[in-house]
Amino acid sequence: MTIRVVAINGSPRKNGNTQLMLDAAVETMKSDGIDVEHISLAEHDIRPCDGCERCNKEPWACPIEDDAAKILKKMVAADGILMGSPVYFGGVTAQMKALFDRSAMPYKEMELKDKVGGALSCGGGAHGGQELTIWQIVTFFTMHDMIVANSSGGLYGAMGVGNDRGDVRNDLEGLKSARNLGKRMVELLKSR
Ligand SMILES: Cc1cc2nc3c(=O)[nH]c(=O)nc-3n(C[C@H](O)[C@H](O)[C@H](O)COP(=O)(O)O)c2cc1C
Repeated sequence: MTIRVVAINGSPRKNGNTQLMLDAAVETMKSDGIDVEHISLAEHDIRPCDGCERCNKEPWACPIEDDAAKILKKMVAADGILMGSPVYFGGVTAQMKALFDRSAMPYKEMELKDKVGGALSCGGGAHGGQELTIWQIVTFFTMHDMIVANSSGGLYGAMGVGNDRGDVRNDLEGLKSARNLGKRMVELLKSR
């Protein structure tokens, strides 16, 4: 049976450093036969949750007409979810946080439960908040009762350094951590 992963890029800048890190993790997964679909939040309209609580009464009953439900349904249909965000003021981008909040739609019935999650981040500074950003994504996975993939070596995700588009290519350790994350996701996905 085909194992499917969605790789979500939370950056509003297309084809930047986060994408390069996602590509490194995805390459590892694809070489192991995993089917991967890329989703760039820069190409989608995801508006913030307005707290109406309608989806808390009836799953998926969100009155906001945008792309959130479409992306969340792809996450529900996948076996694994890889999420990457650049560091924006020490945390995930507004686009990714909006998607987290809108995931109240599948949360009602815990539809993301037991999926394998992998987190990565890239920041302009070497100590720019990559760890906090990853931690935010891991918290999202944990709240959904997902299984968190480690990158190996005591990390709980992959972290890169790079500011201008493409800079992360020079961060060999960061790209290696992304490949290791992909490898661990494959192990967990195949053990399910
Ligand atoms: C609004 C904004 C806030 C940022 N905040 C941080 C930060 O807190 N720490 C950091 O290391 N880099 C920060 N950066 C730099 C980005 O994380 C960095 O350029 C990253 O490589 C962008 O990834 P992308 O190419 O995938 O968009 C910020 C960039 C922007 C535009």
